[in-house]
Amino acid sequence: MRTYLRALKRTVAALAVAAAAFTLQPATLAHAADPGPSVVGGVRAQQGEFPWMIRLSMGCGGALYTQQIVLTAAHCVDGSGPNTSITATAGVVDLNSAQAVKVNSTQVLQAPGYNGTGKDWALIKLARPVDLPTLNIADTTAYNNGTFTIVGWGAATEGGPQQRYLLKATVPYVDDATCQQAYGGALTPGDEICAGYLDKGGVDTCQGDSGGPMFRQDGTGAWIQVGIVSWGQGCARPGYPGVYSEVSTFAADIRSAAASLGG
Ligand code: ARG
Repeated sequence: MRTYLRALKRTVAALAVAAAAFTLQPATLAHAADPGPSVVGGVRAQQGEFPWMIRLSMGCGGALYTQQIVLTAAHCVDGSGPNTSITATAGVVDLNSAQAVKVNSTQVLQAPGYNGTGKDWALIKLARPVDLPTLNIADTTAYNNGTFTIVGWGAATEGGPQQRYLLKATVPYVDDATCQQAYGGALTPGDEICAGYLDKGGVDTCQGDSGGPMFRQDGTGAWIQVGIVSWGQGCARPGYPGVYSEVSTFAADIRSAAASLGG
């Protein structure tokens, strides 16, 4: 069942990216007059609001962990090693903007031991640093509660096209026991944190948002990353929260992996 779900997700993600390639122009025009939903159930982010937000060319999101390293999901990359095939787009909410900063990858580091269950994080080293703020990651469980912000250029409806403009929304924390009622053994509670409106659904990340950050404010009001978009049953369905990698669980591993890539 789990394998089937993951295969299905990959297929849907691939279809969404393919569909985006075909429909970008018409979709863009249609959306110019219509702020529309985003993520699912979101609104457009302001230019500069989430300056560390990255779009990756394979159709995923990411966040600047350092100015030269992007934190994303393990399922967005193929493995570890030298890799110059990924382009990171930074500094814009509009992916078609002439102001977009585009930098290629040099190396990928997929979470050691990643096998499709949990451990859904990866680092992408960029060819050069980008002059933008970075997003701090939570290294304690203190922030695994409350209301989280989610952002991405992924589908704004289940099965829908990728988006030209960055969308944002907020979702409440869902505890592991409640999330397990939806997903049973497919959930790896120590590695994963859930969020969404359990009763009504309607707001969620979706295909193409994977790898992007889920974050909230820390005690000083600064953004802190608590999750990485990973998976879910459909998008924004009542009873099925979004599942995110639990960043605090992996903070030490992410830190040492980034150091091994030379910061
Ligand atoms: N796996 C998806 C991707 O590759 C992310 C799905 C998130 N789903 C959800 N219901 N929150 O983009």
